[in-house]
Amino acid sequence: MVSTSLPGGTWTLGDLPVTRFGYGAMQLAGPWVMGPPADHGGAIAVLRAAVELGITHIDTSEAYGPHVTNQLIREALHPYPDSLHIVTKVGANRDQQGGWPPARDPESLRRSVHENLETLGLDVLDLVNLRLGDAAGPQPGSVAEAFETLVGLQQQGLIRHLGVSNATPEQVAEAQAIAPIVCVQNMYNLAHRQDDELIDALAQQGIAYVPFFPLGGFSPLQSSVLSTVAARLEAAPMSVALAWLLRRSPNILLIPGTSSTTHLRENIAGAALRLSDDDLAELDKIGR
Ligand SMILES: NC(=O)c1ccc[n+]([C@@H]2O[C@H](COP(=O)([O-])OP(=O)(O)OC[C@H]3O[C@@H](n4cnc5c(N)ncnc54)[C@H](OP(=O)(O)O)[C@@H]3O)[C@@H](O)[C@H]2O)c1
Repeated sequence: MVSTSLPGGTWTLGDLPVTRFGYGAMQLAGPWVMGPPADHGGAIAVLRAAVELGITHIDTSEAYGPHVTNQLIREALHPYPDSLHIVTKVGANRDQQGGWPPARDPESLRRSVHENLETLGLDVLDLVNLRLGDAAGPQPGSVAEAFETLVGLQQQGLIRHLGVSNATPEQVAEAQAIAPIVCVQNMYNLAHRQDDELIDALAQQGIAYVPFFPLGGFSPLQSSVLSTVAARLEAAPMSVALAWLLRRSPNILLIPGTSSTTHLRENIAGAALRLSDDDLAELDKIGR
């Protein structure tokens, strides 16, 4: 096990040790995740700062930009340190309007895995999440054909580990019946608690839960309870939201996004905030 001074310590994704405090690179691609980036130099700087600060888990996708986020990661960090694990996802394309149409047929998935390898400059992808559902959230339906396609690419040696994203609990179970997964990446934060049961079930199985939009995504988390607790602790609401996630369950890995090295440092410091049982009970009311 590697040691880290980052809040939350470490977790092992399959056989890959990562810091529980990771970094989500999506919004570096530009406004509404369509290139070009708003600040190219700033994006490179924040990626390098993340690694310098000890983060060993970066979340991305070929769909971000499209291509832009992966290209920024490669420009900033290649050749990658051995300790760094880049997690990507496949299963959605981008359209002219910036939408995210599903692309989960076998040919699209194969193409996307090869594009990720190329833009990131890798021979093997550490972890690939199959992104399900749509922009409205998880949608029911079988994942078998798509997940089996990724298992085939894993057997070819192009992928180390698999996960699912934007998935219903039934789809998580269906994927697990086909092959092991090491993580589930779904929307979850203080105000969106729909996956509480799933998180606990995954924790018992030693599988990571990686909440996307941990800070609310494109609309920052806002809650009077959160503001009250943050004011009492003399902390930023974002700090409380991240510290709460780390406390919520040991299998939760953070991938907050930011385009600012100042915010990155604030978030790392903030996630270390100690929350009392009273704070937790009060925060618990937000999403229930
Ligand atoms: N699987 C999926 O379908 C899916 C979907 C969405 C996202 N994701 C992943 O989840 C990651 C996280 O999502 P996200 O970045 O969209 O949302 P997020 O982490 O919830 O929030 C990011 C937003 O919070 C702001 N922020 C961060 N720290 C702040 C601070 N200390 N003070 C004030 N504002 C702060 C950022 O603005 P600044 O840039 O100004 O700091 C940015 O606008 C993404 O990077 C992506 O990798 C996955």
